[in-house]
Order: sequence, then C-alpha cells, then structure tokens
Amino acid sequence: MPLSSRRRGRGAARRRRGLQLSIAPLALACLLLAGGPLLASVASPDGAGPAARAMGPLPACRYDDILTSPRAYRQWDHTLVDTILMVPRTYVPPDLVPVSEAGIEGSGKIRLVMIDDLKAMADAARQAGAGIGVQSAYRSYEQQVKTFQGYVARDGRAEALKFSARPGHSEHQLGVAIDFRSESGGSPFEGDWGETKAGQWMAANAWKYGFVMSYPKGKRSVTCYVYESWHFRYLGRDLAKAVHDSGLTVREYLWANYTTAIVPPPSGEPLPTYAPTEQPSPSPGPSESPAASPGPSPTTAHSPAPSPSAAPSPPLEPSAEPSPSAPPPPGGGLVGGVAPGVAAATIAGLATLAAAVLLLLLRRGRFGAVL
Ligand code: DAL
Ligand code: ZN
Repeated sequence: MPLSSRRRGRGAARRRRGLQLSIAPLALACLLLAGGPLLASVASPDGAGPAARAMGPLPACRYDDILTSPRAYRQWDHTLVDTILMVPRTYVPPDLVPVSEAGIEGSGKIRLVMIDDLKAMADAARQAGAGIGVQSAYRSYEQQVKTFQGYVARDGRAEALKFSARPGHSEHQLGVAIDFRSESGGSPFEGDWGETKAGQWMAANAWKYGFVMSYPKGKRSVTCYVYESWHFRYLGRDLAKAVHDSGLTVREYLWANYTTAIVPPPSGEPLPTYAPTEQPSPSPGPSESPAASPGPSPTTAHSPAPSPSAAPSPPLEPSAEPSPSAPPPPGGGLVGGVAPGVAAATIAGLATLAAAVLLLLLRRGRFGAVL
C-alpha cells in the first residue's frame, strides 16, 4: 500500500477513535439518565429508594399484593400499607417493647420510637378525664393471618375485607399502630367508641402527640376501610401535624409525599391520564437510604372490591359508615401537570432511545462504517 494511503488510513482510524471517545461518555450519561429513575423506583432491592412525590394519582380501592416502598425499618413513618401495598411476612420491627413502658394499661408491643409520645399522650388524656388503654398493638404477619381468617370465618370474606387487613397489609405489622380503648374500659369495638370521652379526646388531640386516626369517618373511598375510631397510626409529632393540617388521610398523605412503589392499573384497564389538581401538598423532604429487607410474600389472590353496602351484623371492628361513592381521589406532588413518576418514565424512555442510537453508531464506527 502506498505511504499516502497508509497515512490516510491511520488518520481516519484516529478520527474514529476520537469520535468514539467523545461519544462514549455521552452514551454512558444517557444510560445513567435512563436507568436512574427506573432503578430508583423499581429495582431498589429493599424498597427504600429515594423519596418521590406521588407516583400518579392515589390508586382506587382494590386488593392487590404489591410490595410497598419505602419499607426500611428506619422509614417506619413513611411506610404505607393499604389494601394494595404490603410488607413481607418477615417484616418484624427490631425494637418492639411492651406498651406498659409508656405507663399505659393493656398488653402488646410497639416500637421504642413511640414510647415517649405515647406516655405523654396517655398522661394528658388521664389529666383530661379521658384515660386511654391499649386494646391491640403490634401484630405479626402470622397473628394477622389468624385475625383476618377469624373474621372471614365469622362474617365471610367480603365483609371481613371492609374492616380487617389481609396479612402483610396491616399497619399493626409496622409496630406503629394501636387500637385504643378507654382506661379500665371494655372493647372499643362494641358501640361507638368515637362518642366516648376517651374517643372524643383522642380524635381531637392525638395528632399533637404524633398519632393520626388512620380510618376516619366519611373517608372510606380513600382509606378503603370503614371508620375505625380506635385505630391510630404513629407518625411522629411533625409528620402527624402536617397530615392533620393537610386534611388528608394517612394513606393519601403518604402516597402523595413518600410512596415510591409503582402500582400498575388493574389488568385490562387503560393507563390513567394524569391531570393537575389543586391539591396542596405540604410535605417534609425525602427520607434516607435503604436498609436490607426481605422480598415479598404475597398470600392472597385478588379479591373483589368491597361492596359499598353497609355491614349487616356488627363485626368486632364494626362498620359505621354508609357506602362510598368513590369521588376522584386527590392527587399530590404533580409537576407541571405531570406526575413525577410519568415525567421520570418519559425522560427515561427518551434517554434510552438516545443511548441506543449512540451505541449503535459506536458499534458501526468500530467496524468501519461511516459515523
Ligand atoms: N383494622 C385494620 C384495617 C387492620 O386490620 O389493620
Ligand atoms: Zn387497628
């Protein structure tokens, strides 16, 4: 080969290498851009991905077994379980202590993090002549199996689903939910505990001590459970105040501000259209990174949505609410009219496309094609 041809050949090879070197970081950046949101929301092995704000509108009530995230034990305050989202069988909070450590009557265990506020609340309630006790606190997955199955045996599955969580789906398994009763009183499930002195005091004051009623009256269409005047979820004082001030339920608030789990629409339904709402969304910032936690263990086949009719016979945790008419649930954290989850997916898709084209060009360059 003549010298001039060899020089031209070497020059072309250098130009190709230079082009490859300059495109490679670009392609890598595209891939990272594409993978980041997907990894954050889908592949986070322990469900403690970075906090997001609303992965779409609040899902309508239905039954599913989707592993919730975040769910690291230290993210107890941001962990949402409902009729769709769950924690695994092996989710057992590491710091359970007897409720008696808070100087409150009753048995059971709760997470250490809530002892001081529970003690302060019990003292204040007693001072107000509205003393409270604990009816039920932490329940393991296995205990919830028995609880739920007991109600199914007694009332039938469709009825039980209205007031009892399937295993993995109960806030009691988080160790930060308590069913209260009156001090020296009987079961809160008989009659309307919400009308008792203790029940009224709790409804008005519990949030000041970090506790929020999870299933308030008139909110069944968004909580997916009938009214439970006795069931309170501990969120810590700051978050409880934010939830109280927002007027949202715990489920709505956590979904809008912290939940990163992806809840696909029920099979056969089209993807929802996201539209901006005027929903205010006061929120603390995102939470920390994950701790290892086990994988899901779904147990139950999907069940039909609860019938809107009121429960006929008084269950142990009675239905006190008439039918919901399923108003459109509030959305939260929408950015420019597009939910962050959707925006992330769009960016990821475009970036993936760009990365694929660039890699293709690189490959072709390596084999001598014109770039
Ligand atoms: N009663 C509530 C929904 C539970 O079972 O956790
Ligand atoms: Zn409860």
